[in-house]
Amino acid sequence: MVKVNLGGCSSFVKDAEYREYLGKALAAFDTLERETGAGNDFLGWKHLPSGTPDSLISECEAIRDEWKGKGVDLVVVIGIGGSYLGAKCAIEALSHSFAKQLRDRKGMEVVFAGHTLSEEYISELTDLMQERNVAAVVISKSGTTTEPAVAFRLIKQYIEEKYGREEAASRIVAVTDARKGALRSLSTQEGYRTFVIEDNVGGRFSVLTPVGILPIVLAGFDMRAMLRGAAEMEKACAERSETNPAVEYAAMRNLLYDNGKAIEILVTYNPKLQYLGEWWKQLYGESEGKDGKGIFPASVSFTTDLHSMGQFIQDGKRILMETVVSVEKSNRSTVINNDPQNLDGLNFLTGKHVEECNAMAELGTRLAHIDGGVPQLQVSIEKIDEYNLGGLFYFFEKSCGISGYILGVNPFNQPGVEAYKKNMFALLGKPGYEEQAKALQERLK
Ligand code: PA5
Repeated sequence: MVKVNLGGCSSFVKDAEYREYLGKALAAFDTLERETGAGNDFLGWKHLPSGTPDSLISECEAIRDEWKGKGVDLVVVIGIGGSYLGAKCAIEALSHSFAKQLRDRKGMEVVFAGHTLSEEYISELTDLMQERNVAAVVISKSGTTTEPAVAFRLIKQYIEEKYGREEAASRIVAVTDARKGALRSLSTQEGYRTFVIEDNVGGRFSVLTPVGILPIVLAGFDMRAMLRGAAEMEKACAERSETNPAVEYAAMRNLLYDNGKAIEILVTYNPKLQYLGEWWKQLYGESEGKDGKGIFPASVSFTTDLHSMGQFIQDGKRILMETVVSVEKSNRSTVINNDPQNLDGLNFLTGKHVEECNAMAELGTRLAHIDGGVPQLQVSIEKIDEYNLGGLFYFFEKSCGISGYILGVNPFNQPGVEAYKKNMFALLGKPGYEEQAKALQERLK
């Protein structure tokens, strides 16, 4: 269960102000619940946790078992933005930190492609594929996004050359729109198995659809537990209440934003959660950053980044707020030993868990940053597992919808991401972009 603690903001805001923003958040909550706001045709994510049939997970498990039966040990998941970050975040958070070196995997190894146009990356991935027994999942809601399309063209060719076209078709699964897009037609023509991304779920809200479910199941994690955790938060975040955690979080971050805190940093204290920051940045950045408005989302991994970004956060321009994702319990136990020589002077730590040092670093940093003028929002989970991660996903999604409406934007569109694509297409000579290409060439002279 996700808990929100706003105590670290109390010295920055007046109670009356917060009450006013709670009112705004409840109005935004009503808009989201009644489905009367901008982008209301993209609200399918709201009931995914309680509405996902168990048969969907069973279908994914059947693919996992079939591929395991063929000896597949590497699955390349191809996608970008919302079509990869949720799965990447979950798999990183749930995997052993040294799974690769230990060869300790619950399922098949999942690696990602199509989130970059780096030639080195795709070429080096081919080196890996040569060594391994490979299958691929290609994910694109629109079915036309350039980065995954380029990667898929190359990976498809590679798999077909290695296993033959017929066998390749059983080693490729597509996740895409039910009807539209190049990936849908290609899948139909090649006879790939497909999963559908419903029209009413946008990419960054799709981690609890087959976009996230299939890769997470293939990696060997318990998707049922993740959906249970998300369903619990679906219930908690559906209450029209000032203590609804999604309402509280949305109210406070918007109040702080209006008081000049233009940047929100998501802080984690476990390297496994680094991609939670990446997923969260996409969710909030793409949902809120529009019409000249929005909180700029950033992320740091402490204590590592206390030795780099820590200086700015403590002491630089006072435009920051922090949202700390606190994990109450470690899944592992390591106690600091006594050293009779005590040359490092650390015997005062003898018998303490390493996680206690981490917790004190978190507490000490919280107090220092508050003293330095950085309000602290705290979002806590009990431990890192599927259940709690599912809860976090849902909590942040729901609060994002409420936040966007408080801000006065449509949180469910992303018109801004088209600008670079048009230029890239023009510069690459895509048919239909001739005029734009001429204009760009002029500018580049
Ligand atoms: O959140 C979004 O809508 C985007 O980040 C998309 O997920 C991303 O652009 C990939 O789009 P698609 O799945 O259509 O390839």
